[in-house]
Amino acid sequence: MGCREIKSGILQVGALDWDRRLFDELIPLPDGTTYNAYLIRGSEKTALIDTVDPSKVQELLDNLRESGIEKLDYVIANHAEQDHSGSIPAILSRYPEARVVTNVKCRKMLMDHLQVPEELFRIVQDRETLSLGDKTFEFILAPWVHWPETMFTYLREEAILFPCDFLGSHLAQSSLFAQDEAHVLRSAKRYYAEIMMPFRSNIRKHLETLKPYSIEMVAPSHGPIYPHPELILSAYREWTSDEVKNEVVLPFISMHGSTGRMVSHFIEALMKRKIGVLPFNLTRADIGELAMALVDAATIVAATPTVLLGPHPQVVYAVYLANALRPKTRFVSVLCSYGWGSKAVEQIAGMLTNLKMEILEPVQVQGYPLDKDFAALDILADKILAKHREINII
Ligand code: FEO
Repeated sequence: MGCREIKSGILQVGALDWDRRLFDELIPLPDGTTYNAYLIRGSEKTALIDTVDPSKVQELLDNLRESGIEKLDYVIANHAEQDHSGSIPAILSRYPEARVVTNVKCRKMLMDHLQVPEELFRIVQDRETLSLGDKTFEFILAPWVHWPETMFTYLREEAILFPCDFLGSHLAQSSLFAQDEAHVLRSAKRYYAEIMMPFRSNIRKHLETLKPYSIEMVAPSHGPIYPHPELILSAYREWTSDEVKNEVVLPFISMHGSTGRMVSHFIEALMKRKIGVLPFNLTRADIGELAMALVDAATIVAATPTVLLGPHPQVVYAVYLANALRPKTRFVSVLCSYGWGSKAVEQIAGMLTNLKMEILEPVQVQGYPLDKDFAALDILADKILAKHREINII
């Protein structure tokens, strides 16, 4: 895509990845992604902030050549994950005078993962500064954006924050900047849900840390740049708050129709009570959408048939993910159908070890649901309504 100017002396030299459809062989990327790398030219020194996924290294090298630089003094590594760091060895080969600027933890990870030699690092501490002449970086250690070594780079004179993954999104688009705000926020919410939600309390701390800084632009290492940072900062404040919405997330599978009939009755029962429902048929659900739904829903209800005495494996997968993502959800329940016996409810409850949710009485049905079973589903819907009222969200 070539190098693109953000401001005088500041270029985006990273890569668009329009076609990538899976990250970590796990996370769907409906809109592709970008690996943003920023070239900052000062009056005396030149620095590159983050690199790109190794699959796009040639694009980064071409962009640097196009920028006209002959010498690179620093490569700033905000994060050791390979989608940002994986091209550091190639950069050091092309620009052997460059030093890798990062924190102690990140150095170890770059040495472990990429075999970057120890003598090529320049270590920085929290709030340490580095001058490029007329431009000054301040480094803000921000552990557990989702790895323990993450940090932000703040360019003081321009008031630009380079937070790497933090505040980013998997969104390939032709514009450098966030324009379609609704689309960008949806991508950013999906990204927060998949990557950062398990570290919500750390993310909240990072937002607090940034409060005293004047930030006129946020330039993350995935997705568009925010020329109006309040858009993404206020969204993050909302997602990381303790506030939940009057919604039930309902991941389900039905094999022969019994669970499906329970689910359809239950959806109607919730809708009659003016409770929002987000059903996910796990035979075709995008787990990124499921993760996003978990960001602020008050309640999760998993619905499963019984397979080999336990929950359907697709439901196991969804419940495992929900437990790992640690949403702020307050209440949980299970709908289960079975032919002759089931341990599905106990097994699902046993998987939710990370979550401090109140478990509401599950509904278990033998065979096809009858009137008494629909009544039990109505009682569960009433219970959810009462719980949502107790916490003042309806
Ligand atoms: Fe985009 Fe944690 O790497």
